[in-house]
Amino acid sequence: MSLNNVEDIAKYIVSNGKGILAADESNPTCGKRFDSINVENNELNRRNYREMLFKSEGMEGNIGGVILFDETLRQSSDDGRLLKEIITEAGALPGIKVDKGLQPFKEGSEEVLTQGLDGLNERCKEYDELGAKFTKWRAVIKIGDDMPSQECIDANMSALAKYAKIAQDNNMVPIVEPEVLMDGDHDIDACFEASSKCLTSLFNHLNKEGVNIKGTLLKPNMITHGFDCPNPSPTQEIAEKTVKCLSENISSELPGVTFLSGGQTDIEATERLDAMNKLGGFPWKLSFSYGRALQQSALKAWKGNPENSILAQEALSKRAHMNRLASEGRWSSELE
Ligand code: 13P
Repeated sequence: MSLNNVEDIAKYIVSNGKGILAADESNPTCGKRFDSINVENNELNRRNYREMLFKSEGMEGNIGGVILFDETLRQSSDDGRLLKEIITEAGALPGIKVDKGLQPFKEGSEEVLTQGLDGLNERCKEYDELGAKFTKWRAVIKIGDDMPSQECIDANMSALAKYAKIAQDNNMVPIVEPEVLMDGDHDIDACFEASSKCLTSLFNHLNKEGVNIKGTLLKPNMITHGFDCPNPSPTQEIAEKTVKCLSENISSELPGVTFLSGGQTDIEATERLDAMNKLGGFPWKLSFSYGRALQQSALKAWKGNPENSILAQEALSKRAHMNRLASEGRWSSELE
C-alpha cells in the first residue's frame, strides 16, 4: 500500500465500509481493562493481547486503520514481525495517539484541557518515520452545572486544530476527536447543544489554522442521552439527531466521520451506526473508530490465556464485521 498523501489515506481508511480499531489505550487505561479479567498490566501482556487482536481474521476487509499507543508502534511479535507490520498485512494502516492526556482547564475546575502541543512537531516527525499514517487527539467535554463553558470548548477546539495542522505537515491524517461524555443524567437535547457548540468551534479553528479538511477524519460522540438519564431516547431519534447535528455543523468536504463508542454497549454502537446509514442523504462516510465496542467481547473471551486466543479473535472478528455492515446500513439484529 503506497498511500502518500493525507487525502488518499483518509479516504482509504473509510473505504468500502471499513472503520478503525482504537487500541491506543494508555498504560493506565489498559490496566483498568486488564483488571476486569484479572490480568497483570505489564508490557508483555499488553503486547500479547494486542498481537492476538491484530492477527484476527476479521481485521481484513473490515478494519482500515488501527490506532496505537507509542509502546505498541515499536513492539515486535515473537515471530519477529513488528506489530505494525501485522496490521499492514491485514490491509489496515497503523496510526498513533499523540495527545498527552487531560489536565484541569483551570485550577480547581472540573473541566479539562487536553495537553500535548509542546514538542508535537518533533514527535510527529518520528512517528512519520516509524510508519504511522494517521494520528489521534482526544478532547473531552463534560455536561453538568455550568458545563461546558464556551471558553473551555474554544480552548480545546483550538488545540485540536493546531494539532491537526502539525500532523498534516508531517504527512499524517489527523483524527480530531471532540468527545462530549455520556456521564450524567442529561437528555439527548443537552448533548445535541453541547456537541453543536464543539463542532462549530472546531471547524472555525480548523479553517483558521489552514487544515486540509479533505485529509482529516472526525471522531465525534453520537448525539445521545447521558448514562443516568431518566428518559432515554430510542435508536431512531439518536440516529436522526446525530445526522442533523453533523449536517448543521461540519464541512461536506470531510471524507469520513468515525464515531467513538464512549461506553455504549456493543450492540447499541452497531445498531445506532446502522440506523444512521439507513437514513442516508449525507456527503460523508459514517463509520466507526471503536475501542470498547470492538474489544469488550474479545477481552472477556481472552482472559489472558493463549488457549482462548481463537475464541477472542472470533469475538473481535464478529464485531468488526457487524460494524462494517452497519457502516453500509446493511446490519440487522438477526445477524447477531
Ligand atoms: P471508545 O470507543 O471505547 O470510546 O474509545 C474510543 C477512543 O479512541 C477514545 O479516545
